[in-house]
Amino acid sequence: MESIKALRGFRDVYGEEVEKFSLIESVSRHYLGLLGYREIQIPALEKTELFKRSIGDTTDIVEKEMFTFTDRSGDSVTLRPEGTAGVVRAYVQASFYARERVSRLFTMGPMFRHERPQKGRFRQFSQMDVEVFGVAEPIVDAELIWMIRLILDRLNCAGYAIEINSVGCKECRTDFRQALAAFLEDRKERLCEDCLGRLMRNPLRVFDCKVPQCNEVIQDAPVLFDYLCGECRDHFDQCLDHLKGFGVPVSVNKRLVRGLDYYTRTVFEVTSSELGAQKAFVAGGRYDNLVKEMGGPSIPGIGFAVGMERLASIIPEPPPRNGHVYFLATVGTRAKAFLIPTLKAFAAADTRLAYAPSATSLKSQMKYAAAMGADFVVIVGDEEVDKGKALVRDMKDGSQREVALDPEALPDLLKSP
Ligand code: HAM
Repeated sequence: MESIKALRGFRDVYGEEVEKFSLIESVSRHYLGLLGYREIQIPALEKTELFKRSIGDTTDIVEKEMFTFTDRSGDSVTLRPEGTAGVVRAYVQASFYARERVSRLFTMGPMFRHERPQKGRFRQFSQMDVEVFGVAEPIVDAELIWMIRLILDRLNCAGYAIEINSVGCKECRTDFRQALAAFLEDRKERLCEDCLGRLMRNPLRVFDCKVPQCNEVIQDAPVLFDYLCGECRDHFDQCLDHLKGFGVPVSVNKRLVRGLDYYTRTVFEVTSSELGAQKAFVAGGRYDNLVKEMGGPSIPGIGFAVGMERLASIIPEPPPRNGHVYFLATVGTRAKAFLIPTLKAFAAADTRLAYAPSATSLKSQMKYAAAMGADFVVIVGDEEVDKGKALVRDMKDGSQREVALDPEALPDLLKSP
């Protein structure tokens, strides 16, 4: 019968990659806990309106990339393309702000975007998403970026660059938008069909265009950074100062823009040249108006998301697990009776014991043990049962010794030389 394959852009994560995911998760949880973040789990499916209003109607994500469908009740629903919108919705819905001045939250899970799949770009991918609510001061901007560095360094991630910029506030953007629109208007004939539409609705989104000729045009376009108001400029300079204090090197990239509408002031991306075209593996920024736009009070926010697949692809393989792997080889019915008690005793002693569920001969069990990388094999046959002893073979040098055949005592007996 013909086998069924996963959908295009949807993939299975296993082997070394899934080990890396776990490592990223445990290192991240360590630092998140240390710095006062708490986990929040949010739905994968939300009302379409949530993403339209937060990410922005004219963004590529909302216009072209969402998995949107009408559910059985006739409502338009969407598989989340990112985490921030849902976390903000939850923050407002549960009135976190009424209980605490500052909320530090993180969430992990799959996101969905109907993009053209390519290296490092999938239709289902995983993000670790971190958000801080209630602090407008640039100290948290710097602190967040410092935490990213702590996590990356602990993962032995090398050769990455942190790019930072400010996209200002609503006021700075009004002047900039006019200047940009005028610039683009003069070069209209060189823009693609999509960008002509963007020019009418939201000229800032021309920066997201992937068409080479449009990219050329915007190379000389005015940059928002040059239109920052005094306060936004000051906020950015302070952020850079704090980053110096934390000892985190960053490079200011005045052309850095983000493909989501909610950002204000600080935006940043962590990139690696090892990744090719999709080089950002962490990205984020401040969103001081979003909570209010989502129906909450006026509370500033800032956050970032790690693209798990991209980060996993550039960190070294995790070190092998600590501790030996033991293997139980049993031959004959009487010996097999020791299997379950021994498995229970090893689990209680937090020690790994493997066995070959369907292999019968000693030879095939030894082969199985060698193939899975067992360090020691405990051999029990009729002879051992009669003697009340088990044979322990050291797989490294082939030496053997006898220990008492007592499941409860075995884990300790094996650990002592
Ligand atoms: P984003 O830049 O859209 O930002 O995505 C963040 C990261 O998710 C990217 O840098 C990338 O590593 C990963 N990513 C995005 N799309 C894909 C894809 N199709 N395949 C594989 N990886 C992908 C956000 O999502 C914001 N919510 C980040 C944020 C949090 N800003 C504030 N708080």
